[in-house]
Amino acid sequence: MKSRAKKYDKKAYKFYVFNPSTNKIISAWEYKEDAKEHLQELSFTDLKVYTRTYLLRKKLNPELNKNWGTDLSGIKKKSKHEQNKDIEKFIDYKDFKGSSYSKSDIEYIQQYEGAGGKASQGAKGRALLDEFYTPDYIAEYMYKLAVKYGYKKGHILEPSIATGNIIKPFYKKKDFKSITAFEINPYTKRIAELTYPKIEIYLEYFETAFLDKPRFVSAIKNKKEPTWLQNYPFDLVIGNPPYGIHKNKYSPYFKGKDRFKQVETFFIYKGLQLLKKGGLLVYITSSNFMRTGTSNWAEKERMGQIAEFVDAYRLPKVFASSEVPTDILIFRRK
Ligand SMILES: C[S@@+](CC[C@H](N)C(=O)[O-])C[C@H]1O[C@@H](n2cnc3c(N)ncnc32)[C@H](O)[C@@H]1O
Repeated sequence: MKSRAKKYDKKAYKFYVFNPSTNKIISAWEYKEDAKEHLQELSFTDLKVYTRTYLLRKKLNPELNKNWGTDLSGIKKKSKHEQNKDIEKFIDYKDFKGSSYSKSDIEYIQQYEGAGGKASQGAKGRALLDEFYTPDYIAEYMYKLAVKYGYKKGHILEPSIATGNIIKPFYKKKDFKSITAFEINPYTKRIAELTYPKIEIYLEYFETAFLDKPRFVSAIKNKKEPTWLQNYPFDLVIGNPPYGIHKNKYSPYFKGKDRFKQVETFFIYKGLQLLKKGGLLVYITSSNFMRTGTSNWAEKERMGQIAEFVDAYRLPKVFASSEVPTDILIFRRK
């Protein structure tokens, strides 16, 4: 009996995989043997796989609608949370196999949106409150503000980078000497390092920058410098740190004046400590910081001792899945 593969020439046996939420081709490959492997790789249920032959036949006969060619218009759009889960599986599989990532793979994984505000779609845990990623137009604006207030190609720190949105304008314009970053979500850390390979990213809490290596169970003993980070002191600290009342496994190592009630004030003060004289801190953060007036005066006073408050912008609604009002704040290290 003739095998099915012999009925087609090799080229006809090209396979295409579509991401149903975007309708974009996310992968394509040539031969039957490869196809089997890729199909296992992309084991998520409703990615659609088509052969080139099918697509051609469908073009000639639009009525054709069976087996390997269910009409894409009938497919239920995936929720953002489901799409995030697909991307996590995709990364797990690629990394398990040690495969490299193509340009379209990177485009695909960059669609990861984080869990922020996605409780109704099934997302869980602390990430629900933390993972809101900065839209490109705000990142671009923050870049312009940094430049306006004196940033020139220097050493940058992003203390909670996620997929790297805030760093994108600096990276695209090659406007940096070095970029150092922290992130606790292993998937977004991986996405950022695949997309921006020149960034040094620690899969760790930002808090660890101020604790003794390698176990991070005590404050840095050499008090002359606040951190072990190689590129300290930085020209620019820029980011969108987590907000709210946070405690994590490193909180107990920050005592006395180093203990901050709100995590965003920790990120502001500690970010300022890492700047060189004249260096800038540019954050988008909850308007809580500006609105609290004098209730956290002592913390604000301490910030005032090491930095001047340069500028601030109250923003309209920025995050699709969050109503939390936000501001851009700019400080300069004294
Ligand atoms: C509001 S999101 C912003 C992400 C990214 N900077 C952006 O603007 O697109 C905050 C990020 O902080 C991370 N995160 C939370 N606590 C952290 C910590 N203590 N150290 C480093 N990253 C943290 C979360 O995983 C999340 O990715």
